[in-house]
Amino acid sequence: MNRKFSIFILGGTGDLAKRKLLPALERLYKEGHLKNLHKVYSLARKEDPSWKVLVSSLEPSEKFDNFLQFDVNLDSSYHHLGRILRELKGQELIFYLALSPFLFETALRKLGRLLRDFTNPRKIVIEKPFGFDTASARKLNQLLYTYFLEEEIYRIDHFLGKETIQNIFSVRFSNTIFESLWHRNFVDHVQIVAIEDIGIEGRGEYYDKAGAIRDMLQNHMLQMLSFLAMEPPCCMYPEFIRDEKVKLLRSVRKISPEETVKGQYEGYLLEKAVREGSKTETFVAVKLHIDNPRWQDVPFYLMTGKRLSKKLSQMAVVFKEVPRSFANLFDCMPNQNKIIFQTSPKNKIAIHFELRPPAGKFIACPVETVMEYDMESYVGKKLPEAYETLILDIIEGDRSLFIRGDEVELMWEIVQPILESDAPLHIYKPGTLGPEQAHLLLQKDGKAWII
Ligand code: BG6
Repeated sequence: MNRKFSIFILGGTGDLAKRKLLPALERLYKEGHLKNLHKVYSLARKEDPSWKVLVSSLEPSEKFDNFLQFDVNLDSSYHHLGRILRELKGQELIFYLALSPFLFETALRKLGRLLRDFTNPRKIVIEKPFGFDTASARKLNQLLYTYFLEEEIYRIDHFLGKETIQNIFSVRFSNTIFESLWHRNFVDHVQIVAIEDIGIEGRGEYYDKAGAIRDMLQNHMLQMLSFLAMEPPCCMYPEFIRDEKVKLLRSVRKISPEETVKGQYEGYLLEKAVREGSKTETFVAVKLHIDNPRWQDVPFYLMTGKRLSKKLSQMAVVFKEVPRSFANLFDCMPNQNKIIFQTSPKNKIAIHFELRPPAGKFIACPVETVMEYDMESYVGKKLPEAYETLILDIIEGDRSLFIRGDEVELMWEIVQPILESDAPLHIYKPGTLGPEQAHLLLQKDGKAWII
């Protein structure tokens, strides 16, 4: 950006700011991307000692070591902020809401009013979850539009900053060998998995009101789905990309409670700030359908959960079997071709296909062979963190990887039927692969999770 700018992180001493945002900003600064950065201000109720330790270690410290005592609920805090803004004439102001989602509304209303007194160009960045259901997401959008233009709003989903996810476009749209197969004639089914070994990590107050559907399925998982299933945009401009995602999301059938499995890990009720007898799901698996010519009758299976046996985030596109596989000549099972986009534990793309066993007989049962592109090994250095990529996009004003207002509402509509459904809650043991019912969901269709 050519103009000078300042960043204001509301919730600036919180976990997200300390673990992700401030370190990402420092790396961007060191790499020379933030030449016009005036200062990063951390706004919070009180100065936190670990925030102080962190910012004094960041270089150059005068850019990052700027604390502003700020209570989202108090008008006096906004007056104080206003005094600072008055000194930043002509600068672009970037406000990052790294707050508890329960505070978004108040913060937006008061900040919006304050900004009416200023003519500075501005951007507002808002974390997920954006609302708690369809109605509240609509209300939040209306509130945003009272004070901001859509092009000033950056609804962030950090999964879209991951290298593998950004590679889906190139794989799909720049390769004849994939592009020509990417539809119902050749794809058997798709799996999207984001499972974690960690629990709720002291976030009970938020998580118990959210659960796995609001925390992961409605946002990260539906975004992965959009990237995998959308039509190619006519050209690579943010609005055209977002138009295609919206078109796709309109074709996604609302998820049926009958095709949903909810679970809760044993011991969840003992976590701090979890309500007694809470029915919040820490696991969810669904079968989803897309009603459009490309994907009609191709099932999409999505699964996410906490306290499972491992951390794994990936999307698998599983192709149909060849009509008369070689393998059928032998007494062995043919493997279906797959392409796997993994974001965790590694950023990699793996293609699974059938080959003659190495140094085996000419006529032999084919074996599954994997060709892998591991991005970090390929570039030979640590890849940028998702937040680094996205923050740079915000600064440069590229909205391609951010969620538009109509998009987020459609995403809520898709999960709305299962938010309050009384589908049974299955208790599962920590360290396992979740409730048995989630595995039956695929077994019924003659398939199995690739995990
Ligand atoms: C966050 C969720 O958005 O994503 C967390 O709130 C979850 O509950 C996290 O652990 C997973 O992200 P990542 O990048 O660690 O896979």
